[in-house]
Amino acid sequence: MSSPHEFPTLSIVDHPLVRHKLTLLRDRATSTKQFKELVDEIAMLMAYEATRDLALEPVPVDTPLESTSGWAVRGKKLTLVPILRAGLGMVEGILRLIPSARVGHIGLYRDHDTLEPVDYYFKVPGDAGERDFLLLDPMLATGGSAAAAITSLKRAGATRIRFLCLVAAPEGVARLAAAHPDVPVLAASLDRELNEIGYILPGLGDAGDRLFGTR
Ligand code: PRP
Ligand code: URA
Repeated sequence: MSSPHEFPTLSIVDHPLVRHKLTLLRDRATSTKQFKELVDEIAMLMAYEATRDLALEPVPVDTPLESTSGWAVRGKKLTLVPILRAGLGMVEGILRLIPSARVGHIGLYRDHDTLEPVDYYFKVPGDAGERDFLLLDPMLATGGSAAAAITSLKRAGATRIRFLCLVAAPEGVARLAAAHPDVPVLAASLDRELNEIGYILPGLGDAGDRLFGTR
């Protein structure tokens, strides 16, 4: 992982496999089926990095030959929270890595004219204060959706939140860092800029539409 100097909350997962798969994802010729598979695979690889400092506790284990000690992840189950819709594409891959994770949901869409988030659904485990959260959305554009989702999570009691996205715009990273400086952001790429209608350049287009084949 690397961290650009100008964005202290941001880490880039620049593993060669992630960079290769992200390039395929950007390609306009990539089909809906391939797009879904690639988001799934990249999310799993990113989750591996995002969880590298989870707390462990020692546990006893009996091998076929003798008793020894090993390690178990400490505390309540990790909770994945996709921002609907496009965040849903990141859930299954991470669940293959962490099958016992809980899954909350936050429904938000970006108003096409104002680019501000409109929320329509919120459900996370009741004991949010005791859990680690991975908030998931492939795109961090203006940062409005992620900032609103984190505000809602904090209102529900969450204190340990990480945001995982595939493509981030500098504008979104800055807005999120200003609103929630305590939330680390992991991205597969920091792209150049937003265009005049709030799309990331070079980006990968509309992640929700490409995932669900709605355009
Ligand atoms: C996209 C994306 C993010 C949001 C990012 O969702 O999945 O949630 O835009 O933009 P922002 O950083 O400027 O808020 P969209 O609003 O298109 O909804 P969808 O996933 O339902 O298609
Ligand atoms: N949402 C997307 O899906 N793509 C972008 O480039 C910006 C916001």
